[in-house]
Formats: sequence, C-alpha cells, structure tokens
Amino acid sequence: MQGQCPHIQTPRGNLKGSAIMIKKYVFGTPFPTNAVVTEMETAKDKLPFLETDNQGTFTYALSENDIVYGLGEQIRGINKRGWQYVSWNYDNPNHHEDTRSLYGSHNFILIRGDVTFGAFFDYAGKMEFDIGYTRRDLMQIRAAKNDLVVYIITGENEKDIVKQFRKIIGRSYIPPFWAFGYGQSRWGYKTEQDIREVAKQYQAAGIPLDSIYLDIDYMERYKDFTVDTERFPNLKVLAEDMKQQGIHLVPIIDAGVKIEKDYDVYEEGVQNNYFCKNAEGGDFVGAVWPGRVHFPDFLQPDARKWFGKKYAVLTEQGIDGFWNDMNEPAIFYTEDRLADTCAEIEKLTSGNMGIQEYFAFTGMVAGLNGNIGDYDKFYHNVDGKMVKHSEIHNLYGMNMTRSAFEALQEICPEKRTLFFSRSSYIGAHRYGGIWQGDNKSWWSHILQSMQQLPALNMAGFLFTGCDTGGFGCDTTEDLMLRWLQYSLFTPLFRNHAADGTREQELYRFNNVAAAGEMVKIRYSLIPYLYSEFLKAALHDEMMFRPLAFDFPEDAEAAQVEDQLFLGNELMIAPIYKQNAQGRYVYLPEEMMLVRMKSYDNYETEILPKGHHYVPVALDELVFFIRNQKAIPFAEPAESTAKTDLSTLRLLGYADASYELYTDNGVSPDPEDSLSVSTL
Ligand code: GLC
Repeated sequence: MQGQCPHIQTPRGNLKGSAIMIKKYVFGTPFPTNAVVTEMETAKDKLPFLETDNQGTFTYALSENDIVYGLGEQIRGINKRGWQYVSWNYDNPNHHEDTRSLYGSHNFILIRGDVTFGAFFDYAGKMEFDIGYTRRDLMQIRAAKNDLVVYIITGENEKDIVKQFRKIIGRSYIPPFWAFGYGQSRWGYKTEQDIREVAKQYQAAGIPLDSIYLDIDYMERYKDFTVDTERFPNLKVLAEDMKQQGIHLVPIIDAGVKIEKDYDVYEEGVQNNYFCKNAEGGDFVGAVWPGRVHFPDFLQPDARKWFGKKYAVLTEQGIDGFWNDMNEPAIFYTEDRLADTCAEIEKLTSGNMGIQEYFAFTGMVAGLNGNIGDYDKFYHNVDGKMVKHSEIHNLYGMNMTRSAFEALQEICPEKRTLFFSRSSYIGAHRYGGIWQGDNKSWWSHILQSMQQLPALNMAGFLFTGCDTGGFGCDTTEDLMLRWLQYSLFTPLFRNHAADGTREQELYRFNNVAAAGEMVKIRYSLIPYLYSEFLKAALHDEMMFRPLAFDFPEDAEAAQVEDQLFLGNELMIAPIYKQNAQGRYVYLPEEMMLVRMKSYDNYETEILPKGHHYVPVALDELVFFIRNQKAIPFAEPAESTAKTDLSTLRLLGYADASYELYTDNGVSPDPEDSLSVSTL
C-alpha cells in the first residue's frame, strides 16, 4: 500500500514503549484558541510522522491495518477511515452517513498501527480530514490557512497518549451529582401546567426523575433571560415546588439576542459594542427563533462577562442548570441573502421552471440556513482588531459556555451548576458538557451516539449523551426501550424530542413498567457511573473506550465497532436493530453476563473469551462485568437526592473489590470533598 504513494515517507517502526512525549509545532500565526492550557516550548525539529507542504496540508501514508480514532462528535464509525470530515460547527439535524460536519470540532486523532501516535490540529477555522476518502492509503488534513499549532503525542499505548493529551487541555467539567439523574425534555412544553403534568405523571408511574427541561417556549418571544409570565406566571414558585419533588428545572439559552427596543440585553449589547459587527461597523443581523437577532461577541472578555452575569436572572429564581443552544452560531438566514433569494425566486417562478431552475430554486431555499458565506460577513473585536468570524468560527460555542461557566462561578460560588452546550471546540470540555445534537428516532442513531463516546472522551468531553428516544421523527415503544438500555449508561441521560413529533415521555407507552425498570436500574448504577466519571475526570482518563484500547494485542477486539468498555469494570453491547431478539458479542476475555429485568430481578452467567450470540428480550438489560471485577449497585431512588449509599452491594465476581469515589456532589472542586473507599 505504501508503495502507491512514493512522495509520502512515513517513518515506520514501533514507537510503543518509547519516551513519552508531546511536541508542539507552530505554523504561521495561529489564533490563540485556549484549547491547550499547559505552557509548552515550540519544537525546533522537523514535524514527525506527517508531511506538510507548509500551506496548511498534512499527509500521512496509511497502512492497510492502521486505525484512525478520534474527531469527537462526528458521524460514521469508531475507526474514522474511509470518509472526509469537515471541522466546521454546523446546526445540522441530518446526521447521515454522508454528513461532513456536526455541531462540534474536535481536531484530535490517534493513529494506531505500525506507528501509534496522537495529533491535535489546533485551528479555529475550517479544517478537512480526508481519512482515506480520496485515496484509501492516504490521510490528508487541510487547514484553510497555514496558521495553526500541531501537537504530536507519543506514549506507552493508546490510553497513555490520550491521557497526556488530556493533561495539556485541562480537567474536564464535572457536573453536580444530580445531573446523573434521568431528565425529561420536549420542545413543546408551553406552560407551567405542562411541566407540572410531566412531574405528576412520572410520579404516578413511579419512575425516578431529576430534571425537566424548559425549551424555548418558556421565554417571552424567545428573548434570552426573560420568562413569559402569561404561560409561566411564577417561575420561582414552580422551581421551588419542583425541587420539593427532587426535580431541577433546566432552561435553554440561545446565542442570538432578539433585536427589540427596550429589551435590556439588546440595549446594553448595542450600547457597549458587545455584538458582532458587520463590515461597515454596524451590529451584524442574522435570524434565528426570535426573528432578527444580534450575536454576542463571546470572544471579547467584557462581552463574556456581561452575558454570563445575565444567567443570574434565572439562578435568582432557583435555577441551577442550563443548556446553551444554537451557538455554532446557527443562522436561519441573513436579510441580504433572503432578499437576493426572493428576487431570484421571483425570476424563476415567472416562467416555466425547467429541471435546472427547479434545482436552483430548491437549492437556494435550502442554502439559506447556515450558509457558509454568511460567516464571512461578520467580525469579532479581538483586542481592538477586527477578526473575520469564519477564521475563528469553531470557537464561538465554546466561548458562550465559557461565559456562563465563569460568571456562574461568581454568581453561585458555593456549588456546581449543570451546563451543557450544543456547539463546542476542544477546551469547552473544561466549562461544561455537550449533548450530541438533533438526532432522529432512528435505530442507527443509537449506534451513532455510542460510536462518538470514545472519541468525545479523547477530546475531554466526559459529560455527554444523546437525545434518548430520538429528537426528530416519531419514536416507537421498542426503539425507546432499546434506547433506554443504551442511554442509561451515559452520563447525560435525557429524553428529548422535537415539537410536532410523537410524544415520548415514558408514561405514554404501553409497557410503562419496563421503561420504568430501566430508569430504576440507571439509579442503581449511578454510584458506579459517578465514581467512574470522577476517576476519568480527575485522572484525565476515558470513561468509554474501544475494546482495542484495553486489549491492544487482540486483532479481533480492534474490529469491534458496537461494544465499549465503560470504566474499568463494565462492557456494554446494546441492541440497536429493530426486532432483534439478541446480538453477537465478542468477549476479549472471560466476563460475567448480567441479564436484568429490574434492579432486583436478574441472572448472571460466566462466558468464556470469544464470540457469543446473546439473546436479549425487549424488556431486558444485558451488560458484562469484566473478569474478576465487581461494581457497586444501590437500591434505586426516586431522585438522586435520595440515593442511599448504605444500600450499596457488590455485583460481579465473588472475591472482587471495587474502589468507590464519592464526593458531596455539589462543591465546585470535587477534590475538596473526595472520599475513596474500597468495597
Ligand atoms: C434546536 C436544539 C433542540 C431544541 C430546539 C428548540 O434544534 O438542538 O434541542 O429543542 O432547537 O429550541
């Protein structure tokens, strides 16, 4: 294979076991992204492994057996070979196989083969990763400009490479303990009554619940930091009532600020030049949910501080969690483009539309949303210099979450606040989690979410999960059950759906009992999940790993794309196909299969290393405990506030013990209240 690309000389030879090393190579004049927090000298030697033309392109000859891991939130498999990915944060609800960009850009890859190394391309603009797409035997990585920093990381093994990388990007965000509870969300809860009804129905069904999310309809005309008092007459009282039941309300905050006279956020932003500017120096206008909006210039420290302080409007009403949305930023249209499009359409519709005109017509309309050209039309003020948005595009969402995180540390210094964002870049993992965006109620999206988990962990994002049950499209009961059986393992466990889709609160299904048991099992597992999360965050490790990371010599493990290790004790192998009554599983070592209908109704069986067909009924959860390991397992609670660690018992191999990490789940630095005990 290598012979086919003679111009690329990739040095071969096994670097495993060689000196641990991270080296930094600077090209041109990079924009400081704040992804890496460790000061490092710039290396003077030639960039190893990768060839560069010094124009922003980096190439690497791939051997047939090389595996490329990483890229965080992206489509396709755990092994990223065979596609071209584009780092360009994008509001894209279509997560298809032919998608190239999603909401986050995480430019860290790990090549595993004759040579095993990691590479981080720290670049805030558009980047392409052609990983064997143009040529199967070639990886070509292109930054729009040759102004970037490349970090090359070698180490003992894959886990070690990731750990070193994670060290230089800083500790991952750790949410409050309650954030590990189950959350119910829907774009469509329009009134206080809707929220109270959800809480009531969950209670009646006996299903634990820790949070209910407020989507855009709680606001007054979609204006950030306002509450529609007709539909939510007293948010403070509602939040208090919910807290009594152990439920936290989590409102959404969008990036765009509505242009409306006398609206304080708009007026203050204009007065202080806190909004992004157009080429003429005026405030740039885009359109999102509220109609015409300005975008806060989150790259300005003062604008970040100002916007962040606004979260107090909601914390004062008892809110202690937020999700930040539309912060790629999403732009439905700009006025200029809309006017041009309408004019063109006018011309087209006056005649008989032929096929080309018809395609042009549909293309123009579809091209209004997130049009890449619009991101060239606005600017950020960076220390007095105007920087075109497209050059720093991928940093926008991260700086929105940074604004909230830093301000909340001042507003509520005594406790952690829940944050997660849609858009992100590496570095955002220090400020909050991310959810995996607008998926669909498709079977393939269970697998898609799972395949992103290790790559997200590599990039520092530990607090993550997807819209359980699927956001777009209508879900089905079997899909929901299988989805719960996967999502109950992810740190963020939230059922969320789009307006207009089939309602998917768990009490709406025929087999409410089975769904409820799955959520209860989640609560039994929370002490384990939280403990493994703390370990991963405090020791810069991955909570979810491909099998090959723990069994590097096992060639079959390297092929497995639909099973993951979770922490040091578990392996998950969810069902993601409709009507499947079981699945094939590969065990790289002997393991204990656990088959659970409810937290106190389960069977275990020891299975030898190798391939197995495992039947899994629709109302059963199956997972695996690794050889000679055990996990802590609690009585399920109605909410995390009622978790009772005195009910913990060990589930797994008889003589195994478990090292449990706990803290008070609240204080900003978990190390202040960390307790490590052996069970
Ligand atoms: C975006 C978000 C989605 C939310 C919707 C309405 O599509 O990704 O989660 O429900 O906006 O706010």
